[in-house]
Amino acid sequence: MKRRPLIAGNWKMNGLLRQLTELQMIAEAAGEIGEGRDLLICPPATILSASRGILGQKVAIGGQDCHAAPSGAHTGDLSAEMLADVGARYVIVGHSERRADHDEDDAAVRAKAEAAWRAGLVAIVCIGESEAQREAGETLDVLGAQVAGSVPDGATGANLVLAYEPVWAIGTGRTAAVEDIADAHGFLRRTLVERLGEERGAAVRILYGGSVKPGNAAELLAIDDVDGALVGGASLKADDFIAICRATPVG
Ligand code: PGA
Repeated sequence: MKRRPLIAGNWKMNGLLRQLTELQMIAEAAGEIGEGRDLLICPPATILSASRGILGQKVAIGGQDCHAAPSGAHTGDLSAEMLADVGARYVIVGHSERRADHDEDDAAVRAKAEAAWRAGLVAIVCIGESEAQREAGETLDVLGAQVAGSVPDGATGANLVLAYEPVWAIGTGRTAAVEDIADAHGFLRRTLVERLGEERGAAVRILYGGSVKPGNAAELLAIDDVDGALVGGASLKADDFIAICRATPVG
């Protein structure tokens, strides 16, 4: 089945109003790089509205996290409804930095994905093994357990994107070997098909993330069942993000 690639930029805790010129450059290139691809930037919540205005319709915006509840006494948190309210179409949930820094477990991530759906957003559910788990040969077991625990029932190609991000490859400049990525994505595809059935399981996009850069994007994004990338550091520079988009094969 053909899946439309998604290139998603995760700005993490970076980005001030004065850095919106990078988004302007992405918006200007969007007609070309968005041909056959979906483009997404997840800036910090403080500049979501301003980003929406600059990026227009060709590049979607998304949140980096959401609370499971629609509203309430949760100081400092944001609901999926609030993200949708300012024009977000996606939200990342269960990023390994949230799992590590905020003790989010699979059940919490699953509740956040359900919250995303309640608000009409696409949930980008992140999973990935630690270096110790990889060295112990546990990678596929860990990924299977994370999918089982973090992905809610009712997932479809329209409401779920899975992001495979080996924890040890995030922000380190190290990427997983091509054959390891192929193994992981093939395993994840089979797991989704088993869980969701042939049609829905084949429709869910599986992104690779972890030190994706212009120099390695063509190789990584050509791997079977890699349907796009979740890009951290390199998404902060328009030139790099644009180069990664260009390197992503379409159809
Ligand atoms: P990185 O981050 O591209 O800087 O490794 C990826 C991510 O955390 O989504």
